[in-house]
Amino acid sequence: MQSSRIFIVGSGVVGAATGEGFLAAGHEVTFIDIAPERVRALRARGLDVRTEIDLTAEPDSLIFLTLPTPNDGHSYDLSAFTAGTASVGRALATAQAHHTVVVRSTVPPGTTEGLVRTVLEELSGRTAGAGFGLASNPEFLRAASAAEDFAHPWMTVIASRDPQTVERLRTVLAPFGGELRTFADPAEAEFIKCAHNIFNATKISFWNEMWLVAQKLGLDLDPIAATVARSAEGSINPRYGIRGGAPYGGVCLPKDTRGFLGFADSVGVEMPLLSAVVATNDRLAQIVDHEVDTATHAAGADQLRTRAADPVAVTGRQQHEPA
Ligand SMILES: NC(=O)c1ccc[n+]([C@@H]2O[C@H](COP(=O)([O-])OP(=O)(O)OC[C@H]3O[C@@H](n4cnc5c(N)ncnc54)[C@H](O)[C@@H]3O)[C@@H](O)[C@H]2O)c1
Repeated sequence: MQSSRIFIVGSGVVGAATGEGFLAAGHEVTFIDIAPERVRALRARGLDVRTEIDLTAEPDSLIFLTLPTPNDGHSYDLSAFTAGTASVGRALATAQAHHTVVVRSTVPPGTTEGLVRTVLEELSGRTAGAGFGLASNPEFLRAASAAEDFAHPWMTVIASRDPQTVERLRTVLAPFGGELRTFADPAEAEFIKCAHNIFNATKISFWNEMWLVAQKLGLDLDPIAATVARSAEGSINPRYGIRGGAPYGGVCLPKDTRGFLGFADSVGVEMPLLSAVVATNDRLAQIVDHEVDTATHAAGADQLRTRAADPVAVTGRQQHEPA
């Protein structure tokens, strides 16, 4: 049981799941939101909801920023996120205790120690570290199963320059279980969350692009994709391809990526993702001059057989050069 209060600033999908998850774990939680209909809906659920955060007489608390960060074309619109952060900065100015601000929204790398720190310091007249704690703790939940995902996370990431802040968050978050990783630089945690979403998006687009070709050929993609999911080392070896500065080489990957582009073209399907895969590899091959085959290592055939049966059971080395 945690004695200090948890504030949730921005009580939408993530904020509500986060706050209600903490409540269920025995914490005292106060929700903040500026949308009247949201405030009404949460109050109707019996929650402590306010339209403004007041830290004047508040003992040490944890303040989670779960504010919206939509895109505006090819950029993030951080206006609502900044406004919510500013309200916390103003509240910190009147605070007596040492509060910790935790960025849980998905934000571009550098936001916590850039925008958030600057806004909080300017409006509170305090310095991050001595005057208030500052951390990144991105949320990985899926909207469709938000409450369940918060209660049973498979990965928790905490980052702060201050080891005591990391430990404070670990104490609060570790009881929910799952793997917990800590970092000293909040930008690493922010990058993890962006890469997490982008990797998922890339995999989905890859199979949709393949589906377009299969459609042209009158093939059902589902059993094909399900088989590749068990045959391709990239799918079954958790260490394969998970590194930077190592483009693929050898014979088969360069040959089949280029060859399939021409094949798809011959059946009238454009494959912009596959074109980008080839272009990215060519660019990386010019930037890094070491041989991929010596930089990376394959799993043995026995390991692959084991992984095909149990994808996460075996750890091994990776190699980009296929059989
Ligand atoms: N929805 C998801 O599945 C999901 C999963 C993981 C992470 N995220 C990230 O979490 C963040 C929040 O996403 P969401 O889906 O919960 O958004 P949401 O739109 O559901 O909720 C945001 C809430 O913030 C409130 N708000 C806006 N400005 C405010 C202010 N100045 N002060 C207080 N409250 C304010 C809004 O009224 C709204 O209720 C985003 O960065 C998002 O990318 C979302």
